Amino acid sequence: MNLYRAALALIVAPSLLLAVSYAQTATPPQPSAHNAIVNGYQSQWWKEAVVYQVYPRSFKDSNGDGIGDLPGITSKLDYLQKLGVKVIWLSPHFDSPNADNGYDIRDYRKVMTEFGTMADCDALLAGIKQRHMRLIVDLVVNHSSDEHKWFVESRSSKDSPYRDYYIWRPGKPNPASPTGFDPPNNYPSFFSGSAWQYDPGTKEYYLHYFAVKQPDLNWDNPKVRAEVFDLMKFWLDKGVDGFRMDVIPLISKRAGLPDLTPEELKNVSKAYANGPHMHEYLQEMNRNVMAKYDVMTVGEALGISLQQTPSIVDDRRHELNMIFNFDAIRINREGRQWKSWTLPEFKAIYAEHASKLDVQSWDTVFLSNHDNPRLVSSFGDDSPAFRVASAKLLATMLLSLRGTPFIYQGDELGMTNYPFKAIGDFDDIEAKNAYKADVLTGKVSEQAYLANLRHMSRDNARTPMQWDGSANGGFTTGPKAWLAVNPNYKEINAKEELADPDSIYNYYRRMIALREHTPALIYGDYKDIEPQNTKIFAYLRILGQEKYLVILNLSSDPVSYSLLGGLKARAIVISNLPTAEKELSNLKLRAWEARVYKLE
Ligand code: NOJ
Ligand code: CA
Repeated sequence: MNLYRAALALIVAPSLLLAVSYAQTATPPQPSAHNAIVNGYQSQWWKEAVVYQVYPRSFKDSNGDGIGDLPGITSKLDYLQKLGVKVIWLSPHFDSPNADNGYDIRDYRKVMTEFGTMADCDALLAGIKQRHMRLIVDLVVNHSSDEHKWFVESRSSKDSPYRDYYIWRPGKPNPASPTGFDPPNNYPSFFSGSAWQYDPGTKEYYLHYFAVKQPDLNWDNPKVRAEVFDLMKFWLDKGVDGFRMDVIPLISKRAGLPDLTPEELKNVSKAYANGPHMHEYLQEMNRNVMAKYDVMTVGEALGISLQQTPSIVDDRRHELNMIFNFDAIRINREGRQWKSWTLPEFKAIYAEHASKLDVQSWDTVFLSNHDNPRLVSSFGDDSPAFRVASAKLLATMLLSLRGTPFIYQGDELGMTNYPFKAIGDFDDIEAKNAYKADVLTGKVSEQAYLANLRHMSRDNARTPMQWDGSANGGFTTGPKAWLAVNPNYKEINAKEELADPDSIYNYYRRMIALREHTPALIYGDYKDIEPQNTKIFAYLRILGQEKYLVILNLSSDPVSYSLLGGLKARAIVISNLPTAEKELSNLKLRAWEARVYKLE
């Protein structure tokens, strides 16, 4: 058996191979026993898996208090298994006062009370393993909550042994300021205002890149690093399979914390990311933690450019397996302002990725998450005429582009943005703080602010999952969900979609299965064959003799279109609208039509 066929066998029939290795060696197989090279890539389970993100607060409430919880997730594992996803990424489930919905952790070893108990967490993990899926959890260690015991200690006195767990600086004396000081430098917070908070107890400022209740940890302190590595091991020893790492490029701060220049202030993420010791700390983490387990890591790479990406994910560097690069998902905004974009610009991003990331640097594909609006509302057309077709087209694209795909909860149902009307409809601290900073000060009109927020608000993605047509979309049996359910739940819900073979959910299922069984869609080369077309996205995925053509009409218009280059279809593998067209030289694509062809 040559290497390529061996790899195929491993991808198509892993259970068979595991059975063989058990019989022959009588020792358990290595978790990632298949170390074949496919098309130059080292094969890995996390390259072949489709990941599904669960935002626990909004997934499923099991006890009627209106807040999603861990038993709720456990009750829906069959739904996820049926979908075909192999890894679940759980947004933070740790003890937290919820200033930023769990991204402010008070105790890294405790489950958030509203979400359940450690026993519920163990049951969730066992249910996931039983179904041959894996779990990654969110590692939020650029900052903790100000209610974490380290910070409570740290702020208590300048002499506390925990003082240096965080970043404290004296202010600049200013008799005119109410505290007598100005902040130590001009760093802004991502959630509006200064990144420094004055603490009257010890008359110094602490640094918080995000909310006031999210003080940044001091990674230059080796004790902090040791604490983080320990808590990672705590979860890995429980059996979790890795981490999504929150804003991980921000952990190393610039020496001396100099003011940002006016130019740097225009792109704060870039200025805060990639600090002098970032690689050193990630390598230390890898040596101390990841190298000892079979895990996957994906870093939220705020501020990291595509050019810098290999310096974190190249597998010879032993840092992270993958990162989320935001070029594609944020093509529709400038800072916080919604903006238009063109398809050639969008396609150029994927072409660039394919040219800059070689076989050593694995990519991710995602266009939504808990920090961004709904997939179909931002990248498709959520009007009644095209919602279903465009959601299926986006599924085709996400699951056939190059890299590990990440699906955000509810996108498999084609859930849409919420019809927000007033600032009171929002929960998100980012939106509320910016309202205070921009609208209440008269810098931006209320109307303009809300019009923009409707497009880009993080709360669009955080409204509860729509499980069925009953009150509150079946998310809770209680009278009220923590955030309003989208009023379209009677039409858009899981129960309807499970029963309809032609639903978005069932299309995702088919597309996930197709990717799982088609090595070319995982390890194949990527080639955009129509980079300039403003409506059509057409690309090849090629692995040896296996060639696939993906054609997507990303517009609400029908498009007649001829493919050049003598490509010949052997079969249509999947399409989102019924079609019999096989002749590639004269295609008639309807609005939002998506097809995958196998080529001769
Ligand atoms: C990124 C997370 O995805 C977001 O939800 C959070 O607000 C910030 N990091 C701060 O932790
Ligand atoms: Ca609950």
